[in-house]
Amino acid sequence: MFGRDKSDVTETLPMVPMRDVVVFPHTMIPFVIGRQSSIKALEHATARGKRIFLSAQHDATRDNPGPEEIYTLGTVCNVVQSLKLPDGNVKVLVEGLERGRALEFHEENGYLRVAVKLVPRVEEPAASMEGLMSKVIGQFEQYVKLSNNLHYDAMLAAVRVEDPGKLADTISSHLVVPVEEKQNLLEIATAQERLARIASILEAEVDKLNVDRRIQGRVKKQMERAQKEYYLNEKMKAIQKELGRKDDRASETDDLRKKIEQARMPKDAEEKAIQELKRLESMPPMSAEATVSRNYLDWLIAVPWARKTRERKDLHAAEQILNDDHYGLEKVKERIVEFLAVRQLVNNPKGPILCFVGPPGVGKTSLARSIARCTNRKFVRLSLGGVRDEAEVRGHRRTYIGAFPGQIIQMMKKAGARNPVFLLDEVDKMAMDFRGDPSAALLEVLDPEQNHSFTDHYLDVEFDLSAVFFIATANVLHTIPQALQDRLEVIRLPGYTEREKIEIAQRHLLPKQIKSHGLEPKNVAFAEQALEELVRRYTREAGVRNMEREMSTILRKVARKVVLEGRDYSAEITAASIPDYLGVPRYRTTQKEEHHEIGLATGLAWTEVGGEILPIEVTLMPGKGALRLTGKLGDVMQESAHAAMSFVRSRAEDYGIPRDFNRRLDVHIHVPEGAIPKDGPSAGITMCTALVSALTRMPVRRDVAMTGEITLRGKVLPIGGVKEKLLAAHRIGVTMVIMPRENEKDLAEVPKNVLEGLQVRLVDHIDEVLKLALLPPETPAQVSAGGPGEELGTAVPDGMTH
Ligand SMILES: Nc1ncnc2c1ncn2[C@@H]1O[C@H](COP(=O)(O)OP(=O)(O)OP(=O)(O)O)[C@@H](O)[C@H]1O
Ligand SMILES: [Mg+2]
Repeated sequence: MFGRDKSDVTETLPMVPMRDVVVFPHTMIPFVIGRQSSIKALEHATARGKRIFLSAQHDATRDNPGPEEIYTLGTVCNVVQSLKLPDGNVKVLVEGLERGRALEFHEENGYLRVAVKLVPRVEEPAASMEGLMSKVIGQFEQYVKLSNNLHYDAMLAAVRVEDPGKLADTISSHLVVPVEEKQNLLEIATAQERLARIASILEAEVDKLNVDRRIQGRVKKQMERAQKEYYLNEKMKAIQKELGRKDDRASETDDLRKKIEQARMPKDAEEKAIQELKRLESMPPMSAEATVSRNYLDWLIAVPWARKTRERKDLHAAEQILNDDHYGLEKVKERIVEFLAVRQLVNNPKGPILCFVGPPGVGKTSLARSIARCTNRKFVRLSLGGVRDEAEVRGHRRTYIGAFPGQIIQMMKKAGARNPVFLLDEVDKMAMDFRGDPSAALLEVLDPEQNHSFTDHYLDVEFDLSAVFFIATANVLHTIPQALQDRLEVIRLPGYTEREKIEIAQRHLLPKQIKSHGLEPKNVAFAEQALEELVRRYTREAGVRNMEREMSTILRKVARKVVLEGRDYSAEITAASIPDYLGVPRYRTTQKEEHHEIGLATGLAWTEVGGEILPIEVTLMPGKGALRLTGKLGDVMQESAHAAMSFVRSRAEDYGIPRDFNRRLDVHIHVPEGAIPKDGPSAGITMCTALVSALTRMPVRRDVAMTGEITLRGKVLPIGGVKEKLLAAHRIGVTMVIMPRENEKDLAEVPKNVLEGLQVRLVDHIDEVLKLALLPPETPAQVSAGGPGEELGTAVPDGMTH
């Protein structure tokens, strides 16, 4: 392995184990030694030839490392200079000469001696390494620039070296890397490998230094900014002082503190507010954070924690106000007064929530307003139509940007007192989707067991809603979630008769509208017939909303005249002059047919806007027994038509209809008036009557209206919406209503004057219906509509003549 050249020669030298220094050949390096053994070794070296062997110890903390704890590869050095320091240590300057391997250690007179074999230098042509050399030089230049530890001249000295081995050693000695790494470099035999290793070390080091530099730059910038802000704030304070203004900041916080005290919050809310105020004080006043914090405090302060209006408890006065504001509605008012009475007796009422249910424009919202007036509470209204998100009710957490309290808290702020009448309008229109169910939040609001500790996500403290008088309104009940319905005490407002509407118009709507149009009573006079005309021919509704709108249209035109022609202008509105204001009538006078007709019967329907008339037409034509249904009928209504048809076929002979009529005829059932949604089984007897009329050519009495479900055997089953349907019948002026006997109980709810004007006939079977509704057959010439009568039997069945 070893050739017989100079490198084979071993030499015995004193040695010093180095704690954290690796000496490279071709470099000079100063260090201090202090251990007695080391000093002795040095002395021996200087005394004889100045050659010494230096090698690093494995563990820098060991004071007396044994031979096995010292790297065997070290450097043979020349001691250039040594200087005894006053503290007994010695400062040494050595020059690295050659790599050497320690073959043997032995201790002698208190210091270490080693037998060293020099490591042969590998001859490598510099030319082949030029590229690598210049790369390393470039990297080293960068390294020196970035690190503050190395001197510039060290770099210069290093890069001027031309021999690759020497270059590698010089740069190695300048690197700031752990001892192990340096030892590694020392142990690499060829210059090429050493340079490659150095290149990779330098690359990593330069990267590290670059990152350091960036971080340092950032830290510096941040510090500069903070200092700048501080400086500017101080300067602003100084300027304000100079201008003679009191420190704004202090006055703002004083102000807020005072307001917090005055708000009389419950304890935990107050604590929260004070805590927030402290946070606010520590923020830069113009920062975004401070704005958020101030907003939150403003909300906490603005919510009516303690403020209350004094409640009026006088029931007589309450009754008086309800009567003043609303005409009619006797039952409803009575129930409201009873409700108020109970609320008074049970001091902390945990009873149900009032809910007004009825078609639009019947006075639900305005009744709630009246209740507020008669109990001397504030009034707020929250429309729940289209609310589909729990957060709309309960607010967003403050961590969201631009967060706000929910509608409940917003409304409470608007009320300014903690005991308002709170109207939850249109609870039936509340929607539900993936963002959560608002009705769940509403349940909590309405539950007297829970609502004393309602938490809004934004406020994040409990708010007591128990003093609030909640009232709900809805057009229909069935879309309200059941759990919510259970909390509600439902009061129904079915709609008004013609007479009532006219009274309401005269007593309430007209004076109100005249005032709101800036007119005086002398400017306009409505004849009673004019109002009648409005009710009958310009509106068709259960409530009075459209009538009010039409009146307002007329009054606008009057107002224009008053402005043009002077304050004394006076308009007389009569039935005849109404078309001048409103154009041609929108509806026919009555829906009652003008003649007794064959194949046309009048049904009664119930819709969300109240009762309606539902005429049903049947025509026959030559064909093969097809049944056609038109008029956009719902599924249930179509089935009901088929049932009526089957019934008629099964009983054809009893009614004198040829058994095989369906082989020669097609039947077409049509339900006109496209606007009314048509579904439900309650048109069964009407369809059957029209069918029998068409087939037997017996006209249907024009002053009869009917409603009822029919079975295949002709039984008449009960239906819903009796009150609304009777109001509609009354409105159009029919004289007789046929309805199922089982609905008799519902008649109790129908206003007396309506019942007085109507003959109500209760029936169990379709035979009774036909007996009441059909007239004897007429000759074809007298009848205005009909089918191919001649071919059909026209015999009247027994007992069906009048
Ligand atoms: N019985 C009545 N006496 C006096 N005014 C009435 C009466 N009923 C309704 N009104 C008036 O009719 C108008 C419409 O009533 P309101 O707004 O209360 O209807 P609503 O039942 O709440 O309808 P919606 O379901 O569309 O909200 C109001 O101006 C109200 O004062
Ligand atoms: Mg309303």
